[in-house]
Amino acid sequence: MSRMPIGIFDSGVGGTSIWKEIESLLPNEDIIYLADSKNAPYGKKSKEEILKLSIKNTEYLLERGCKLIVVACNTATTNAIDYLRKNYKVPFIGIEPAIKPAALQSESKIVGILATKGTLSSSLFHSTSENHASGIKIIEREGEGLVPLIEKGELQSVELKKLLHRYLQPMLKEGIDYLVLGCTHYPYLIPLIKEIVPEKVKIIDSGEAVAKQTKAILEKNKIVNPSVIKGEHTLYSNVDSNVLKCLAVKEGVTTKVSFLDF
Ligand code: SIN
Repeated sequence: MSRMPIGIFDSGVGGTSIWKEIESLLPNEDIIYLADSKNAPYGKKSKEEILKLSIKNTEYLLERGCKLIVVACNTATTNAIDYLRKNYKVPFIGIEPAIKPAALQSESKIVGILATKGTLSSSLFHSTSENHASGIKIIEREGEGLVPLIEKGELQSVELKKLLHRYLQPMLKEGIDYLVLGCTHYPYLIPLIKEIVPEKVKIIDSGEAVAKQTKAILEKNKIVNPSVIKGEHTLYSNVDSNVLKCLAVKEGVTTKVSFLDF
């Protein structure tokens, strides 16, 4: 079992930000990544649709023998992870917006969160905010339109810059000192976000915490790969696009990126 791959899925290419963190911490693990770009964005879909797609992705990864599955999509985590954990035997790691560390460290007690509609409206998001951010003013903003542009590989477009200005300026006016990126696509926007927000506003995403949690769960279940050589990385997209190829580049890591009609 320990030599089987880790499975990762996302609504598209954004979860590669999580894949990179996991590869850095667990370089000897084999990883299979599914980018369900054909169905992106998940953030606009109903809970039922998100669940159906998450089950389809999970079953594909299980057919490939994955020993643990990382749901590298905030929207799928908040809407489907409870069901997946109850109905499948492998451990699941989800991505929750890093509200807790932001709330603990915020001095202004005002924290901004940029996420999809599907994440912001989920009960898991509300309970996380209530449990970990009491006394903190949370300024929520739906990042409408950002994921489709990132899926197209438009990481520098004028349209993207305009949207970010529109979403971030009101938060800055409110006095946020932490900005939580509640979508695994958004770390790719950090260079642009830094052009808009002053240096004193800290930007946090969940990548490092998810990688640490993945390691801890592998250790707890005694399924860490004992291999001493670098793992194999196979990334699939169900649209014929070069964007995944571009984002799946990591120094010192060999990746195989292919089209797969899943
Ligand atoms: C989306 O598909 O709408 C974004 C994925 C995420 O929430 O991380």
